[in-house]
Amino acid sequence: MSDTKTNYSKRSHTCGELTAEALGSRAVLCGWVRHIRDLGGLIFIRLADRYGETQVVCDPDHAPEVAARAAACKLESVIRVAGVVRERPADQMRAEEITGAVELLVDDFEILSRAKPLPFPITEEPGRNEELRLKHRYLDLRRRPMLESIEFRHRFILSMRNYLASEGFLEVETPQLTRSTPEGARDFLVPSRSFPGSFYALPQSPQIYKQLLMVAGLDRYFQIARCFRDEDPRADRQVEFTQLDLEMSFVDGEAVLELSERLFNHLWRELLDVELPASWPRLTYAEALERYGTDKPDTRFGLELVTLDDAFVGSELRFIAQALEEGGAVRGIRVPEGAGASRKQLKEWENEVKSAGLGGMIWIKWTADGLSSSIKKFLDETAETRLRELSGAVEGDLLLACAGPRGRVDTALDRLRRRLGRDLGLIADRWDILWVTEFPLFEEDDEGGLTSSHHPFTAPLSEDSGRIESDPLSVRSASYDIVINGVEVASGSPRIHDADLQRRIFNALGISESDARERFGFFLEGLAYGTPPHAGIAPGLDRIIALMLRRESIREVIAFPKTLRAADPLTGAPSPVDDSQLKELGIILPDDADSSTDETG
Ligand code: AMO
Repeated sequence: MSDTKTNYSKRSHTCGELTAEALGSRAVLCGWVRHIRDLGGLIFIRLADRYGETQVVCDPDHAPEVAARAAACKLESVIRVAGVVRERPADQMRAEEITGAVELLVDDFEILSRAKPLPFPITEEPGRNEELRLKHRYLDLRRRPMLESIEFRHRFILSMRNYLASEGFLEVETPQLTRSTPEGARDFLVPSRSFPGSFYALPQSPQIYKQLLMVAGLDRYFQIARCFRDEDPRADRQVEFTQLDLEMSFVDGEAVLELSERLFNHLWRELLDVELPASWPRLTYAEALERYGTDKPDTRFGLELVTLDDAFVGSELRFIAQALEEGGAVRGIRVPEGAGASRKQLKEWENEVKSAGLGGMIWIKWTADGLSSSIKKFLDETAETRLRELSGAVEGDLLLACAGPRGRVDTALDRLRRRLGRDLGLIADRWDILWVTEFPLFEEDDEGGLTSSHHPFTAPLSEDSGRIESDPLSVRSASYDIVINGVEVASGSPRIHDADLQRRIFNALGISESDARERFGFFLEGLAYGTPPHAGIAPGLDRIIALMLRRESIREVIAFPKTLRAADPLTGAPSPVDDSQLKELGIILPDDADSSTDETG
């Protein structure tokens, strides 16, 4: 029996290694006691580490002291065991596991570290209390699915890095303490001690730096870049997340599209053994909205949207007449063979539409017994015929529709369409990857002014640039997004490398010359010293990895994510700081500042 001075680093194998080839030989294993079964003194332990699990047997007839120690050992304690590899009894063979044919009959057992009673068991399935999981993330990460996602992420990044290096890209780190970057979210600010009253901003993306690296002549740059955006987290959004940021010189957007296709196809091939199409379908923003009501359509199923305005011209239905008068729309989804839908189902689907801010949903069923509808008495024959023509409905079909401002109708129908896809089991098990192009360059903000849809350095389509002043909302950008199975995973564009055009864009955005100089002067000056035409893109790694692993949330592929309130239950961040620290930074808090980050509060 060994004492605590044993050289425990000398394990002969990991817990995922021993196979029938090792039968009869001695082995030393270290790991966590994942499971203990005591069969009247004969003790079986599942010993686990990152690599797998091995069955360990402590037999009082073979080594009484070993069995006594094992009996006293608590779950998740770290032990070192030595013994002889032998075949498992036939009824315990696990052909699907690498170590499933063997067990270690132990004659030397040492507890390296005792574990306290656990806050939750280490099982395949996560507990429901996610905050508790995050508070003890080091335990949660011991769960096999989490380990797998961390390992997959490592392989993904390695493969991506190697691929980009093979295409001549240089990896460059850009600063985390910087000035505000215009990606449209709120900044995280860091007070400066040396310059009281001044702040760094954490980068929302390395956008400006990567463009300056093109000015510097680096030609092809990439970075696995941590980005910070102070916005409400969601399943696919964190305040701190990771992009593959890249930029290329002397190219137009087309070269970035081709490079991205090669890169993604390489990753899918290498990591999933899946062959994506060599080049991907492209959909313009306008087309995506028309057909799916969203700029990130899930094209794995049909149920495309149809516009039904024509069937309701002169309608006596007040909400429809009003929507049309106000320039809105009536749009819907035909559900083939959906006429059997129950009232309860229709109610649930209507709730989906309502949660997007619309008053309600119209339904029309064409059955063998004739037409039934929530608006039957308002549907004359002409209207009904027109609805059939516009939607392509035939007997047995269901038509769901809503009316209102076009944007809201589209948002509601996008939600409804995704819900229908799930409820009706229509979503094909495949990878639908596509480009969405030609986004509007500008959007209207709440005050009626203009903002950039992406960022103000995005180039407009050259054929539209003449309308920047006269009709800015009609100007399309040369930008592109990658959408996979209905999730936006990347976005990018060719950039403006002409100072004059950049000035016109700032003008349209209401950014005066002096404002522009104040906010981006260093950047505009850089562009004035010889700027190659350049274009780039930034895929969001957390989203892509979560999709590849079919995880519900990006939190499942990030080692230490934050909660939906952007807090870290593990470290207690964000946390109050000492008065002396505040004083040093010249910060005075209002008396009623609530510094509590208690999620339950
Ligand atoms: P954009 O802001 O569209 O573009 O971001 C690019 C991609 O980053 C991912 N992403 C996020 N992932 C997790 N949490 C978030 N809060 C979050 N925000 C964005 C998405 C998105 O498609 N500088 C430009 C890129 C460029 O023009 O080259 C940019 O950052 O997958």
